[in-house]
Amino acid sequence: MVTRLIAEGLLPVLDVGCGEGELAGHLPEGGWVGVDTSATMLARAPQPNVQADALALPFADSSFASVALLYILYHLAEPPRALAEARRVLRPGGLAAVAAPSRHDSPELADALPRRRPTFDAELLPELLAEHFTGVEVERWDAPLLDLPTHEAVRDYLVGKGVDPDRAHVAARSTAVPLTVTKRGALAFARKP
Ligand SMILES: C[S@@+](CC[C@H](N)C(=O)[O-])C[C@H]1O[C@@H](n2cnc3c(N)ncnc32)[C@H](O)[C@@H]1O
Repeated sequence: MVTRLIAEGLLPVLDVGCGEGELAGHLPEGGWVGVDTSATMLARAPQPNVQADALALPFADSSFASVALLYILYHLAEPPRALAEARRVLRPGGLAAVAAPSRHDSPELADALPRRRPTFDAELLPELLAEHFTGVEVERWDAPLLDLPTHEAVRDYLVGKGVDPDRAHVAARSTAVPLTVTKRGALAFARKP
């Protein structure tokens, strides 16, 4: 994604739901603007960053050449509203980059993971993006990408996936370690017409 944003001259990217600003570390100086609702996350993120909601971005229409929504949409009750807001701040021809885990992510831990279906996942990505953008391109991954060496690492991973800490502790204790986890998800690109 970074290679493409740089090659196409689409910086700075507006990183919506930026968390600690991991993306910024892969971009040149001045190539990133972060937005997140969490003051805790933003305190650890580089500048410039703005505390704001993905549903009400404090930027004018058509003000960015690219917008990233990486691992945020499943946190929202109505992901299509955030896609509409991303489209608003993108200039015509601008690029949206959206990443999400698959509903079949981490099969080795399926029994411990929440059973409720999230509001957004990699399987919904192409269809929802096509409602707001054109030229949707999807890159998927499905590979043993993550090693969890200890019970504590398994517990922390489960908590990060939304499992209650007490339940995560119990599930982690009954998991054989080290554990290699199959990561499944997708990154999609699409353009504002
Ligand atoms: C899983 S983290 C992803 C962080 C970063 N995009 C990454 O890929 O490393 C999700 C982030 O979305 C933020 N978030 C959740 N709801 C949000 C909203 N309505 N508007 C903006 N950010 C939100 C959370 O505070 C959190 O930092």
